[in-house]
Amino acid sequence: MKRIIVSCALACMAALALVSGAAQAARPKIGLSLPTQREERWVRDKQAMEAEAARLGLDLRVQVTDNDAARQVAQCENLIAQGIQVLILAPHDASSASVIVDMAARAGIRVISYDRLVMDSPREYYYISFDNVKVGELQGEFLVGRVKKGNIVVLAGSPTDNNAKLFREGAMKFIGPAVKKGDLKIVMDQFVKDWQPAEAQRIMEQALTANANHVDGVLAPNDGTAGGAIQALAAQHMAGRVTVTGQDAELSAAIRIVQGTQSMTVFKDTRALGRKAIEMALALAQGRPIATGGRTVNNNKHAIPSVLLTPRVVTRENLDAVLITSGYLRREQVYRPKP
Ligand code: GAL
Repeated sequence: MKRIIVSCALACMAALALVSGAAQAARPKIGLSLPTQREERWVRDKQAMEAEAARLGLDLRVQVTDNDAARQVAQCENLIAQGIQVLILAPHDASSASVIVDMAARAGIRVISYDRLVMDSPREYYYISFDNVKVGELQGEFLVGRVKKGNIVVLAGSPTDNNAKLFREGAMKFIGPAVKKGDLKIVMDQFVKDWQPAEAQRIMEQALTANANHVDGVLAPNDGTAGGAIQALAAQHMAGRVTVTGQDAELSAAIRIVQGTQSMTVFKDTRALGRKAIEMALALAQGRPIATGGRTVNNNKHAIPSVLLTPRVVTRENLDAVLITSGYLRREQVYRPKP
């Protein structure tokens, strides 16, 4: 009797192992390659994708490149060797990442370019992001609306990131005509290496020195660079007296907005972006089509089918409604006593 029970139990365990083994094998394996975790927005992207992958039962394998293009290639090579079916890739260097797309394609792996578009690749892949020209338009329109006349500093993001070009292109649709009319003068115009706040601060310090502090507005392409520029302004007791744009709705930027040193940010809901990317990855892993409504973004070689979400301006007036009520930021974190 005892022997029968034991062998029954063993048979049951073997069956269970078989079933869970099959479930394991059936679990789509997705690779995720991110540029950094040193910026709040990318931490949120990772969290959003991990949560959605867990909800859908996907095996998500994450690598972070620390803004190193060669490292990103090596890490993706490793993900490919692990047998992923889909690679979600947020490139550090838009152009050199085409090597990664090529490697993946040769291994039969589908690629989703995440937030930043991989450039110059002849291969087929998908792109999910926000409408990045629109982001720049929102920043440029805001700046021109606030600074009717005066000197402005134009900062652009990393020259290796295609988004930096798109943001600038959008902003210039508004700034360009104001400069032509003679209302605005661009006194400094520079890319910011790797989007580094310290680099933005250094450029801003130079601009202030060269113009005897006569600066009325700063086109800062994201919250990190806005923070750097505002530090340079604060050192000259000018923080809060100069219009400064931003992007990403980071907590530190929301705090600056309520305290009055940063004028706006652009909210791109990373929860929605991350969720959608994982949904797309699952569809590709299962061989299902992705609806893009015919939308594309050109990568210098050809049109890449794209899903583009809508960005939104945040100022002190609508911050509560857009960021706090939606649960993106917590009230007690944003409203802190002035130091
Ligand atoms: C961009 C991204 C922005 C910003 C920046 C720096 O590509 O769209 O949200 O955070 O990179 O990481």
